[in-house]
This record gives sequence, structure tokens and C-alpha cells, in this order.
Amino acid sequence: MTNAYKIAILEGDAIGPEIMAQAIRVLDLLATHHDVAFELIKAPFGAGAYFDNGKAFPDETKTVCDNADAILKGPVGLSHEESKKIPVEEQAERGAILPLRARYNTFANFRPIFLSKEMAHFSPLKPEVIRDGIDILLIRELVGGLYFGSKKRGINEAGLRYVHETLEYDEEQIRQVLVVAFDQARLRKKILHNIHKSNVLMSSVFWNEILDEVHQDYQDVEVIHLLVDAAATALCLNPGQFDVMVMENMFGDILSDQGGGILGSLGLMPSACIGPEKSYYEPAHGSAPDIAGKNIANPYSMIGSVAMMLEMSFAMKNEADAVWQAMRMVFESGYSTSDLSADSDKITLLSTVEFGDHVIGHLEELLT
Ligand code: IPM
Ligand code: MN
Repeated sequence: MTNAYKIAILEGDAIGPEIMAQAIRVLDLLATHHDVAFELIKAPFGAGAYFDNGKAFPDETKTVCDNADAILKGPVGLSHEESKKIPVEEQAERGAILPLRARYNTFANFRPIFLSKEMAHFSPLKPEVIRDGIDILLIRELVGGLYFGSKKRGINEAGLRYVHETLEYDEEQIRQVLVVAFDQARLRKKILHNIHKSNVLMSSVFWNEILDEVHQDYQDVEVIHLLVDAAATALCLNPGQFDVMVMENMFGDILSDQGGGILGSLGLMPSACIGPEKSYYEPAHGSAPDIAGKNIANPYSMIGSVAMMLEMSFAMKNEADAVWQAMRMVFESGYSTSDLSADSDKITLLSTVEFGDHVIGHLEELLT
């Protein structure tokens, strides 16, 4: 019997449609080689959706997403100047991304920070720091903390304008993401780096208390505590010490971009946003309006997000592995994309579509 999956396709803004087109080629190819069917339903989302519909996350898109088995989302948003034409609450981040996360309670954000040894030349870190490559799974809490706490602005008693923004969690919100992180640690090297700021923040003291409770059920996993500022340094000096890392939403936003930095580009950062019933998949980077329409964006993070969807939503682990392998084969055979350093004359730059061509070529061999 053919498995049939419905996927909501939210192309997003700027480079979104270009990199999504390459991701769709990969899905189409898999469907021709395997007993699986993908029904792809495109829906407007982001700044473009606001200009066309007056809403960054229109009702019709909500319905498409509600009815889908998984959601594949491109990057959204416009330049700082263009965004000013949109009311603050409808700007793509606040008007589309955060509501999408909240709607499906996608509390566990998987951000792999991966660079094979053969791709180590892309990293700004020295070869002796990179050694055998980088292979970290950063897990970021995604629907609580500083992002979703209560916020207000006003005038205080001294007559000064002020802002108030809170970091809130209940124990269940912390527990559920820690359970996911411990499960992943157990499947990998059985080491979990817990990233926090308990020397200052009460929220981290609380987080660590819950962690001690959850740890009782995972005594085979070693927990290493690290303050978030020290973790930022350690990621640069010795990324090899990390395997699975877990942290609060805002910490994860910042450290995952640093993860892209040590790889050499955010273009190498796919992600999975996992909820109890529905998950969505997106590159961890923005929509890069400065290079939109030029056919030079790197589609790796978008195609990698497809690989994560295949594995995590559709239990297609072999196919996911083939997609990863095909992408690695492109970079490992001397090609690059314009976001990545190419300081050697042995490296040939690929356009967005050419990268897709090479991935499809390798994938065809791997699947037959
Ligand atoms: C990310 C992005 C988002 C975030 C923005 C666009 C809301 O930076 O996914 O990391 O801050 O979470
Ligand atoms: Mn971010």
C-alpha cells in the first residue's frame, strides 16, 4: 500500500521560493523511486502573505496546515526598511512564525550543527580545532521562555518610558523538552550538555531542578552543566566536546546561530520544530532579501529540512540518510555555494538550481 502524505508548503519570502523549489525536486524524486506519494499544498505565509491578504498567517493557510501531515516552511521576512511598511504585529516574525509555533505547540526545536571532515574547509575554525568534523544536536525549547512571556510597555512612576518582558515556564514545559533531549542523548553518545545561566537567572535554577528530576529516569546519560556564556566560548574553542545540547528558547536562538557561524554559514542549518501532534521544518536562517532572485542562495538548509521531515514525521530514515549523503557528496566533490568560503581555486561555485541538479544526480544513484 502506498503511503500518502500531505505536506503544507509555505514558500515564504525573498529566497524562500528559490530554495523551496529545490526541496520540492527532492520530494518529487523520492515519490518516483518509492512507494510513497506526497501531496504538496502551497499556502501564503510571511510578508508576501501580508501584502496580498492583510495577514502574515492567513486563515486559509491555517486550514491547509491543520489538514497537513507535516509543514515545510521557507524563510520569511523582508529587509528592515521594507518591514516598516507592515504593522509591527503583522511583521513576519511576530505575525507568522511565532503564531505557527504556538498553534502546533512545537516545543522541541532540533538544530543539527553538522560538518563532515571533508567539509571542514568551510569552517572559520582551524583544522586542529575541527579535527574529525562537527556533529552537535542543539535542542532549543521553542514555545516558551523569553519569547512567549508577558510583555508590556508604558510610563513608569518616574514618568519614564519603560518596557517589561518576562521569561516564564511552568514545570511541564521544561520537562517535556528535557525528556526529548535525554531521549536523543540516549540514542547518541549518552552525554547531555545542559546550557543555562543559574548564577543569575531564577528561571535557570528552576530549569536545573526539573532537569535533576528528569535525570532520575535517564541515569545512563551523563549531564554536563555549562553556563550559556561559557558555552559560546566552548563552541568556538572545542566544538568536539558537544553532542546533544539543550537550552531555553532565547539561549537556543543565539547559540544556534553561532553554530551556523562555526560551520561557515547559516546556509548549513536546517531545523525541525517538533510538536505533540504536528511538526514543521524550516531552515534556521532568514530570507536574505539582498540575494533574492539571483539564483545563488544555498538550498542545503531547506533540503536538509526535508531530510528531517522524512525521518521525523514519516519514519523514512533510509531516504533521509540518502538525502543527507547526496548533499554531502556535492560539497565533498569540490563544489560550493556563494555563502560558503571558497578560498581555494579547486572549488567550483554552484547556483541554487545547479546545487539541486547535483543533489538529484547523486540521489538517483543512491536510490537505485
Ligand atoms: C529562528 C529565527 C526566529 C527566532 C525569528 C525569525 C522569529 O531567528 O528561527 O532562529 O528568533 O526564533
Ligand atoms: Mn534565530
